[in-house]
Amino acid sequence: MNAPSPRDKRTPEGTRAPDGRPALLDVCDLTVRHPGRGRRALPVLAVDGVSFDVRPGETLALVGESGSGKTSTAMAVLMLRRPESGSVRFLGTELTTLDEPELRTLRPALQPVFQDPYGSLSPRLRVRDAIAEPLRVQGRWDPLTGPARVAELLELVRLDAPLASRLPYELSGGQCQRVGIARALACEPKLLVLDEPVSALDPSVRAGVMNLLMDLQEGLGIGQLLISHDLALVRHVAHRVAVMRRGRIVESGTVDEVFRP
Ligand SMILES: Nc1ncnc2c1ncn2[C@@H]1O[C@H](COP(=O)(O)OP(=O)(O)OP(=O)(O)O)[C@@H](O)[C@H]1O
Ligand SMILES: [Mg+2]
Repeated sequence: MNAPSPRDKRTPEGTRAPDGRPALLDVCDLTVRHPGRGRRALPVLAVDGVSFDVRPGETLALVGESGSGKTSTAMAVLMLRRPESGSVRFLGTELTTLDEPELRTLRPALQPVFQDPYGSLSPRLRVRDAIAEPLRVQGRWDPLTGPARVAELLELVRLDAPLASRLPYELSGGQCQRVGIARALACEPKLLVLDEPVSALDPSVRAGVMNLLMDLQEGLGIGQLLISHDLALVRHVAHRVAVMRRGRIVESGTVDEVFRP
């Protein structure tokens, strides 16, 4: 028998908190269709009736072969691509019926971290400005307390203070990804949507970034929807796993249930 995954011992209990608060994220019967590319191309049904939830402090991993619809699911959860049908409830609010200004008020709580560490940072923004940007955009930047908040975020993602004045090209991939995580955390998110957050990184720094995410989650109680090809990593960091194939979830359960030989 497999040794239990380190995460299974810590699985948060119950979909709902004792006070009846809803799950962080509740996705029901989600369908995403991409328009066909080219003149006679048919639309692609990328996500076909997918349902799952993520509880506070929990990591749900979405795994599955390339093209199975993981990124399409993530983009729909983030409302960066409108689903064709189905429901996405975040903190009890149905997102699919909100317009963009309404979504903007919820976006800080629902933050993405994408695969490409360099591509997700603006090449002209120094680290301190990259981290401050989300606060400025939300109108939450206070010139008195802001710099200390940036320093705190740098420390949280374990980046040395002198890196604050560097530009992205002066950072390693792992450092860039930490800046991306600090930016996401600046918004004080309740849920991180992580699409292959470490697969572009050198194997030697992957564990460091993933352990950082686990620690932050435990410290801050953030829920995570984690997309990854790396099953060893998923087994290490996730509480539950959903396996996608051709747009559907074909298997789901705790890490030990899904990875049982
Ligand atoms: N913008 C798009 N326009 C048309 N088709 C798309 C678009 N994005 C994705 N698709 C198609 O939708 C399906 C699901 O793609 P998706 O990117 O969600 O898969 P994935 O599971 O994330 O794959 P990977 O592991 O390779 O990242 C694929 O058939 C893909 O070709
Ligand atoms: Mg993808």
